[in-house]
Amino acid sequence: MKSLKHYFKKAYKEKFAIGQFNFSDWSQVKGILAAAQNLKAPIILGTSEGESKYVGLAEAVAMRDVLRKKTGLPIFLNLDHGKSFEYLKEAILAGYDMVHFDGSKLPLEENIKISKEVVKFAHWRGVVVEGEVGKIGTDASRTYTEKFEIKEEDLTKPQEVVEYLKQAKVDVLAVSVGTFHGMDVTGVSPDIRLEKLKEITAVANIPLVLHGGSGTPEESLKQSIALGISKININTETRLAFANTLKAELEKNEITPYKYMVEPIKAVQAVIEGKIKQFGSEGKA
Ligand code: 13P
Repeated sequence: MKSLKHYFKKAYKEKFAIGQFNFSDWSQVKGILAAAQNLKAPIILGTSEGESKYVGLAEAVAMRDVLRKKTGLPIFLNLDHGKSFEYLKEAILAGYDMVHFDGSKLPLEENIKISKEVVKFAHWRGVVVEGEVGKIGTDASRTYTEKFEIKEEDLTKPQEVVEYLKQAKVDVLAVSVGTFHGMDVTGVSPDIRLEKLKEITAVANIPLVLHGGSGTPEESLKQSIALGISKININTETRLAFANTLKAELEKNEITPYKYMVEPIKAVQAVIEGKIKQFGSEGKA
């Protein structure tokens, strides 16, 4: 199987985005996997620190290995939003393909310092590193009933990208260009700042990552990919489809998991297939 680096190069050159789909439960993985198999797409399975603590780092790696072997698909694992070098080290040693160091809340110098340590440790083991400059909006609830306000000062500053990349040799970079984690249940869409993204791509010659992909209109996603976004992260939309369908199934008083999970898995598959098509990664495995 070709490496994750190979797929990032391919995505960057051919202008498509690899989907990172987060999970914390095996049934979600079944839905994600069915979509990837159906559309022959490379995928990254993402776990945040919280998700990975629930699943288990070693368990996630073992599952990835089995699924790769069974399907022959390029399936990779990323530790999403790792806040400490210590935890990222654990994920690397467990066998993750990629780690995301989120130092966005730290002063730039501190973010650079830790990113450099992560890169040194990861690259030595052939693990891909995602850095982050700029703050991506988020809160715990992840579903907002009012328009999520993006603060101008949280958007990625191109000058900081120059400074960061000069020192921290990450492989891919997460940027804040208007999306936020979670989605607005009133249907108000995140507003991607394409001009800002253009300014960033002018100074960053590496694949960029868009977080907070849920709820983002297809046209904005396509324009972002054309400008150099090579990975898009999706979590909330999958969670909503999964949880809402599961609630409806449980209402029917079915108590057998492999029966009441059929529809939630299908709901996840439908969301992921839609995303893979929008990202242009269909047939890129
Ligand atoms: P959403 O929950 O908005 O899809 O964001 C996911 C994400 O960016 C994970 O890092």
